[in-house]
Amino acid sequence: MQKQPSKAQNTAPSKIQAKKTAPKKILIFASGNGSNFEAIVKHFQQKAFKAKVNIKLLTDNKNAYAIQRAKKLNIPYFYVPFENLYDFLKPRAKEYNLYVLAGYMRILPEKILKLGTVSGIQGQKKQNKFINIHPSLLPEFKGKNAIRQAFDAGAEKTGVTIHFVEKKVDSGKIIVQKSVAIGNKTLAELEKSIHEIEHKIYPEIIENLLFKKNILLFGGGAREHALAQKLSESPFLDTLYMANPNDGFKYLGKTIEFTPSGDTRADFYNLAKKARKLNINLLVVGPENPLFEGIADIFQNEGIRTIGADKKWANLEGSKSFAKNFMLKNSIKTADYRVLEGEAAVSKHSTQIKEALEYFKAEYQTPPVIKADGAALGKGVYLPERFKEAEFEIKKFLEGKFGEASKKTILEERLFGKEISLLSFWDGKTLLSFPPAQDYKRLLDGNIGKNTGGMGSIAPAKISAKEQKQLEEYQNNLKKALLKENADFKGIIYSGLILTKKGVHVLEYNMRFGDPETQVLLELLDTDLLYIFLKMSDKKLDKIDLKFNKKKAYCMVLASEGYPDSPKKGAQIKNLEAAEKYNCKIYFAGVSKINKHQKSAQEQDFSLPAKHKAADYAGDTFITNGGRVLNIVKSAFSGKIALDKIYKTALEINFDGKIYRKDIGKTYKS
Ligand code: AMP
Ligand code: GLY
Repeated sequence: MQKQPSKAQNTAPSKIQAKKTAPKKILIFASGNGSNFEAIVKHFQQKAFKAKVNIKLLTDNKNAYAIQRAKKLNIPYFYVPFENLYDFLKPRAKEYNLYVLAGYMRILPEKILKLGTVSGIQGQKKQNKFINIHPSLLPEFKGKNAIRQAFDAGAEKTGVTIHFVEKKVDSGKIIVQKSVAIGNKTLAELEKSIHEIEHKIYPEIIENLLFKKNILLFGGGAREHALAQKLSESPFLDTLYMANPNDGFKYLGKTIEFTPSGDTRADFYNLAKKARKLNINLLVVGPENPLFEGIADIFQNEGIRTIGADKKWANLEGSKSFAKNFMLKNSIKTADYRVLEGEAAVSKHSTQIKEALEYFKAEYQTPPVIKADGAALGKGVYLPERFKEAEFEIKKFLEGKFGEASKKTILEERLFGKEISLLSFWDGKTLLSFPPAQDYKRLLDGNIGKNTGGMGSIAPAKISAKEQKQLEEYQNNLKKALLKENADFKGIIYSGLILTKKGVHVLEYNMRFGDPETQVLLELLDTDLLYIFLKMSDKKLDKIDLKFNKKKAYCMVLASEGYPDSPKKGAQIKNLEAAEKYNCKIYFAGVSKINKHQKSAQEQDFSLPAKHKAADYAGDTFITNGGRVLNIVKSAFSGKIALDKIYKTALEINFDGKIYRKDIGKTYKS
């Protein structure tokens, strides 16, 4: 009988929270040398895993050196001639959690691969259990001698790919890739570095596939729908918990009802306790408010890691004066500004407002932008065209137009240029960014009308090579500043930038994924999002490559008449099937479902590429329940085709009071 893991083993190095279940079993296939086999065995022979992972070797080659290694490592092995493989595996198919190919020189027929997609193991989602490692960045250099192929082709870089095994050789869904620069390396040196990477990354990925993670996603808008969708595609996910998803994406996981009691911090504390009971490994925070309240600190105290800034650093978004100080201290360019505060500034004999305005007149000739210092749901910004108008509006701000948030008000030099959103992952050490995105903040075509939460977005934003270089410099400065200030948190930094004649300036920081930028940026991201989060939580973002595809992604928001002030609600949404017809994705925001057909996560096949199917909504009736109702998202190599399909979908999906911008895709300068 297998020994149960002891307590000491349970608390050892790796942070897996193994449930008290039977040990995981893996079968490693090797035909030759078996160096990956040995690396995997050594990884799982560490104390922490000993009783939890059970490894066996299978070879089709009597003389494989892997057999010698197995003997030395005390690992049972099977010699199975290839023609007997099916008969050998069939009765054992349910026994193993994972079939690991490690230099197995055979092509597995479909019949055998099918044995690996049996969802036999209790609680495990239906998914492909065969994985392989290939020494190139697939789809480049498939087949034999991949390292030499890349070397001979004079490629700049090559690398390692771990992927699920599918019928076509070296073509299955990619789990992870890591690149290596070829540079001046000799072939032997290149081989050595590739093997080193393989020996590190293969065991690590196997560990993540065996001990999947439970995630809690906080937030219920379209941005969170997109995040939930992306996370649910990860092979490293066990259960996705959500607090509180809107009705449009509940089916992607399990809902934890979060009911605010008025004492937000106590609510978060209770949520963290619940999360611990559910063995949740990681919290991912969508909106800003929980960060301002310190949700990350509270979860951290309960031993649950969080993707989202701590209370202190949430101030980069929550307090404009905190952000200004940070930039000023670290020579990050931002608009010149003055701070006005409280009643003294508006009192009868005060000259503060007049003096401030004179300053802006003398320096810049244009009236300053007026901003509430505190958080005002993105609405606390006013762009006056005339000085008189500015004076009038500043008074309203200081008198409390946005409550406490505008009792302190910032006046800011008005900047002119192209606006872009730069979203970055930060783990306290490494800053990795998405390509730049652009959102459409104004309500109406031509970038006019009220400021909204965002009416659409595109990525990548069109920028010149010169601007690209400036962006890189900006990122270096930001990273230096964060390091210097010891910003030791794991989260997202959203730099709202304006590309002026005087270079890149920061308009604002947000400490969260942008909405609706996230919806398009995730279309470009080819690296597993959960894997990125796990690396961040280990402060090892420097160990991964972010891979982006070359598509163009667009998001269009369908909103409801009256948005942003008082949107109409309660209209039935018809023709959602149009999304499938044009191959677009739908992310829901302000909707509720009036019949409660619930599709379970188990019904989905997570090893297949995500595609929104009409079946996802079959039998559902949604009604509008907010200003921004839903997003239509599409990416393609041809931007024109993607946009065309989005517009067709937008026309066909129907509800009373539907409004949307007809100029998504255009670039504007302010
Ligand atoms: P914020 O909430 O700070 O991003 O401001 C909302 C929008 O107001 C920005 O996206 C810009 O379009 C505009 N804005 C804010 N600050 C400035 C500024 N200093 N100069 C020009 N436009 C600005
Ligand atoms: N799209 C702007 C924001 O997320 O604040």
